[in-house]
Amino acid sequence: MTWVRVATTAAVPLGEMLGVSVNGFKLAIYHLDDDSFRATQNVCTHEFALLSDGWLEGSEVECPLHAGRFDVRTGRALCEPLKRDIAVFAVEVRDGEIFVALP
Ligand code: FES
Repeated sequence: MTWVRVATTAAVPLGEMLGVSVNGFKLAIYHLDDDSFRATQNVCTHEFALLSDGWLEGSEVECPLHAGRFDVRTGRALCEPLKRDIAVFAVEVRDGEIFVALP
C-alpha cells in the first residue's frame, strides 16, 4: 500500500467532489458534510460513467448515467441497476493535502 497525494483540501470544497487520475487509478474524492474526506473508485460498476460527474448528497453519490447510488463511506451499492459495490480507499489529510492509500 502506498500513500499518494491526490489534491489539496481547497480543491474539494465542503459538499463537493473531485475526479482525479493518479498512478493509473481513476478516483473520486469527496468532502462530506461532517468535514471528512473520502475516496472511491470513480468509474461506476454498472457501465462506464464517472461518479464525479454525478451528484453528491450527504454521503451518497448518484451516478450521472442511470441514477445508481453508492454510499461513499462503505462503497455499498444502494439501489438498482447496481449489482456491485465500488472500491473505497483510506484517506488522510496532512497540512492541507489529501492523501489516498492505493494498493
Ligand atoms: Fe452508473 Fe449505470 S453507469 S448506474
